[in-house]
Amino acid sequence: MFFSENFLQQWNPIIKAGCVIHDVLSDFLVRYLKQVKIILLMLAHLSLIGFLFPQFGRSFGNFAQNLLLVILLVSPLSKLFRMKLLYQLMSLRRELGIWFAYMAIVHSLSYILNPEWFGTFIALFLSQPLSMMPRYLFGVLALILTLPLLITSNTLSLTILKGNWKKLHWLVYPLFAFMLLHIFLPRRLGIGNDIFGFLQASLAFGAYVLLKMLAKNNFLTPLREVNEYVAQRYVEYRSSSV
Ligand code: HEM
Repeated sequence: MFFSENFLQQWNPIIKAGCVIHDVLSDFLVRYLKQVKIILLMLAHLSLIGFLFPQFGRSFGNFAQNLLLVILLVSPLSKLFRMKLLYQLMSLRRELGIWFAYMAIVHSLSYILNPEWFGTFIALFLSQPLSMMPRYLFGVLALILTLPLLITSNTLSLTILKGNWKKLHWLVYPLFAFMLLHIFLPRRLGIGNDIFGFLQASLAFGAYVLLKMLAKNNFLTPLREVNEYVAQRYVEYRSSSV
């Protein structure tokens, strides 16, 4: 055993609280999943009002980044920890994806529609896009990949595209890589800064790939032990609350 029984038992109160919160949220989603989906879609459309507040452009970008992280992490985490709530959250990915795309568009346009910013960072490079500042080139590439995913986030596209829909939505991975490069690459040019920014983006992407691998096969003994311990505590909690 990697962790001693004593060490794991110290966490019982927190694990119990986690079981209670898990079941409250999970029961809520069982009852109100449809309403939650409608509210998420309404919030996504409401957030388009952000067009009127370009001064919050950066915050919209941060919000878009967090939505994409939730969408990308919920699937491997659900496979790794096999929690009902995580599986339920997976059924909200379409609504969260639409919200992500709207926020990314509002964020991007808050800069693109700013004549000074556009003139300095975009207009000069339209004839030679590859000479654009890497940070913004990857932002533009991330936005370009967001559009087909947004346009096909509906049942009609799923029906028409069939198996190709999943292939198309595989684009979310290069989108994620471009977003990380857009976030971590520096505003100030300089080879040192670029390498450091690239390393940060690669580390973040690498961590995601590791999580996907663990979701396929949990080869980390300590994590497996914690997983099994928490699963046993959850079974005990359920049987004691029946
Ligand atoms: C999917 C598309 C995009 C996402 C998710 C995204 C996300 C983000 C995030 C999270 C930040 C904040 C980073 C920080 O706090 O350091 C940011 C900053 C920024 N983004 Fe984006 N972005 C996207 C596309 C774009 C596009 C297309 C443009 C413009 C053409 C753009 C222009 C900017 C600017 C100007 C900043 C402010 C930081 C700076 O001055 O460099 N972004 N973006």
